[in-house]
Amino acid sequence: MALVLRLCIFLTLLSGLGTSHFLINPLRNLRKRSLPDTIVDGIEVYSTKINCKVTSRFAHNVVTTKAVNRADTAKEVFFDVELPKTAFITNFTLTIDGVTYPGNVKEKEVAKKQYEKAVSQGKTAGLVKASGRKLEKFTVSVNVAAGSEVTFELTYEELLKLHKGKYEMYIKVQPKQLVNNFEIVADIYEPQGIKELNADVSFITNDLMNVLTTSFSGKKGHVSFKPTFDQQRSCPTCSTSLLNGDFIITYDVNREQPGNVQVVNGYFVHFFAPQNLPVVPKNVVFVIDVSGSMSGRKLVQTKEALLKILSDVKKDDFLNFILFSSDVRTWKENLVPATPENLKAAEEFVHQIQATGGTNINDGLLRGIEMVNKAREMGTVLDRSTSIIIMLTDGEANVGESRVEKIQENVRNAIGGKYPLYNLGFGYDVNYNFLERMALENNGVARRIYEDSDANLQMQGFYDEVANPLLIDVDLQYPQNAISDITQNNYRHFYEGSEIVVAGKLVDFDTNSFIADVKGHGALNDLTFTEEVDLKEMEKALEEQEYIFGDYIERLWAYLTIEQLLEKRKNAQGEEKENLTAQALDLSLKYHFVTPLTSMVVTKPEDNEEAEAIADKPGEAVKADRITQTYATQLNYQPPSTPYYFVDGDPHFIIEVPQKEDALCFNIDEKPGVVLNLIRDPDTGITVNGEIIGEKEASSETKNRKTYFGKLGIIDPRIDLKIEVTTQKITLWSGGRGNSFTWMDSVIITENSLSVTINRKKNMVISIGDGVTFVIVLHPMWKKQDFLGLYTVDSHRMSTQTHGLLGQFFHPFDFEVFDVRPGSDPKKPDATMIVKNNKLIVTRGSQKDYRKDSSHGSKVFCWFVHDNGSGLIDGVHTDYIVPDLFYSSPSHF
Ligand SMILES: *[C@@H]1O[C@H](CO)[C@@H](O)[C@H](O)[C@H]1NC(C)=O
Ligand SMILES: *[C@@H]1O[C@H](CO)[C@@H](O)[C@H](O)[C@H]1NC(C)=O
Ligand SMILES: *[C@@H]1O[C@H](CO)[C@@H](O)[C@H](O)[C@H]1NC(C)=O
Repeated sequence: MALVLRLCIFLTLLSGLGTSHFLINPLRNLRKRSLPDTIVDGIEVYSTKINCKVTSRFAHNVVTTKAVNRADTAKEVFFDVELPKTAFITNFTLTIDGVTYPGNVKEKEVAKKQYEKAVSQGKTAGLVKASGRKLEKFTVSVNVAAGSEVTFELTYEELLKLHKGKYEMYIKVQPKQLVNNFEIVADIYEPQGIKELNADVSFITNDLMNVLTTSFSGKKGHVSFKPTFDQQRSCPTCSTSLLNGDFIITYDVNREQPGNVQVVNGYFVHFFAPQNLPVVPKNVVFVIDVSGSMSGRKLVQTKEALLKILSDVKKDDFLNFILFSSDVRTWKENLVPATPENLKAAEEFVHQIQATGGTNINDGLLRGIEMVNKAREMGTVLDRSTSIIIMLTDGEANVGESRVEKIQENVRNAIGGKYPLYNLGFGYDVNYNFLERMALENNGVARRIYEDSDANLQMQGFYDEVANPLLIDVDLQYPQNAISDITQNNYRHFYEGSEIVVAGKLVDFDTNSFIADVKGHGALNDLTFTEEVDLKEMEKALEEQEYIFGDYIERLWAYLTIEQLLEKRKNAQGEEKENLTAQALDLSLKYHFVTPLTSMVVTKPEDNEEAEAIADKPGEAVKADRITQTYATQLNYQPPSTPYYFVDGDPHFIIEVPQKEDALCFNIDEKPGVVLNLIRDPDTGITVNGEIIGEKEASSETKNRKTYFGKLGIIDPRIDLKIEVTTQKITLWSGGRGNSFTWMDSVIITENSLSVTINRKKNMVISIGDGVTFVIVLHPMWKKQDFLGLYTVDSHRMSTQTHGLLGQFFHPFDFEVFDVRPGSDPKKPDATMIVKNNKLIVTRGSQKDYRKDSSHGSKVFCWFVHDNGSGLIDGVHTDYIVPDLFYSSPSHF
């Protein structure tokens, strides 16, 4: 959840101070924050509350923020909340000085007219945008008069789905300024009883641990998080907030019974998730796109995922691989059993997969389907087995049949509803709507695989969800004449770790009990589960729980029905589509859900025609700018759009190559005391050098003593600037004057084009002009040697002449990787690389990027170049040795 009040952060506070020479009057320039910490740019946020109530998986969340304009002029106040894509906004109100502007859900077209009118009149408008993988972002801002108070209240609802055995409530926390009263409170009520409950907070510290409580007992669970004002500070003297990240509540319920039925106020819901059933053997065909666009990192990640999946295949399963590019190739002629020999051969097959040519989705899929159908007809697969087709593509059909309607028709006819098709769309060049429609009409789902360093894990994660079918052809039945408007009640597969939810209305109900029957085919035999509920007893039990909301089953039913109507609509045409749209729209309006068919319009109480703010639900296929986002949320500086280059660890150099969506890395082994040139720009004179230090432990007989950068020197002769950063001290010189700080300080120094921010014990950000930004990360190692990491996050103002161990990579360059093969470590394949006209043997590896999380880091996958970067760097590494930290004469490159 994010609350953004336009923060011109500290730079504004310091502007207007000394303008002559840099650091002439350090005391004036380095003024520690003296304005009240509660007020940023005139706005005080005095309360932010996130209140969640979950009743039987149905979550009702309210986010309330109150702020007051303490400035003597009108100010714009921003409110921005990130919520799960699967949630529907149900209400938004704005209260200014006690006057409430309520939100109304309207049909999109109607709302759009009001919205356009409002915008043309210069009025406030809110917006919901896709944000990252799982979230979308609601943003609104209002202009608030001096001295006025504003309250924002946003409500959204969501049915929490069981995923890998857990319900998960994801709350994004990002207040961006210190808040007097900040709290997150969640109350959970589950009629089956709560078995476990956890809150996982990405920004937790020991201190914050004391204000986080989670407890559960019987049917109730409670989570609360109320940090005091001072506990929110990122350091004792900081006025920035430590609260920034994910707050994830996960829980599960008792599952002694295979299911649970609840009936309240004329609606019923049935949750079905039987445990401990044997897994049904499956026949799985992987239909994999190996067209040219898959080459490079995508193919490497796909192979990594397939290899991991092969290691998890069950012994009763049958499998095969179909590779499609311009034509179609199969591993084996038919489906084969997962014997150890076959799995070994499959691994070898996966290793040698290469990517080239066009994309013939139609023939690839049809070959896979035909193979499954034939195996079934010939009886080569197990009798009680089930089949699954998993297709992965990163592009659109451009060879063979390329009309999507025709491909859909061919696939639908070939599968004939017998088993599910799952489509994985890799990246944003796919026609995702087509993949989704095709999967949905064949009892499957589509999933996007985001191009990122964890793409392999996303694919494996998807496979894990469908790897263990427990029941086939599941049919959920209820008293025939007693129900109506029931949601989907038959499913091709029931998978381990998931849950089937069916809801409906009761009609003419005069008995005291309600019976649900579930039939399905298991691995060994056919099964029937019966659930009987005593309605009187249930009503009494629920009445005692005053804090649950009484209409939760009705809203859950409406949510599920709308969700299913919208899905069905994706494949409907003509009149049927209009009918489905009309039904979904009716329900969205009736239950105040902001769905793709409706918008929320905030109107002035006295004038119903005028829109002040609007909330729309975005569709799929919006490319979220994830890099920009992580920068913006993690460090308070402008998000650069350039690639990253950094050196960290012992010392690991990492070079991102954006056009390849991949990275290269290498190590330099040198003796402690050696100074290496990292960056040198002969045009601007900007130079960065680093001095190597060794591990503290003097047990230096071991030859593999690790080395790190312990000192960094930065020079900009144009502004007569030198900065020396060690693991203890930071010294700045300008015009011969020096000024020292320690890593215990939190300081912002600004002077014309230069800005230096020290974030106590964490990192420092150095920006020279707009276009050159470095981040230096401090790694405080307990007992071991502290060390530094250098990250170039913006280099676009450096000249093309820039050189040095890092600097030489600031210009676009290319490389090619092929012949990926098993290396000496099975998890790290080797490959051949052509770069700078050299042919090198490289190894897949990963390094840690500590920009965001300086204690744990996040993994970056890269191709590791051996032997001190030889072949990748110009010359040899000893060419980069310089005599001292501030040496800046031109090198011979
Ligand atoms: C929306 O929220 C406001 C403020 O809490 C409340 O008064 C109003 O009844 C809500 N509207 C709906 C439709 O729930
Ligand atoms: C949709 O069609 C069904 C019959 O197929 C009809 O009963 C229903 O009224 C229609 N709904 C709408 C909203 O038009
Ligand atoms: C890297 O360079 C150092 C110093 O020149 C040398 O001792 C070491 O053997 C080199 N390492 C490799 C793997 O080439």
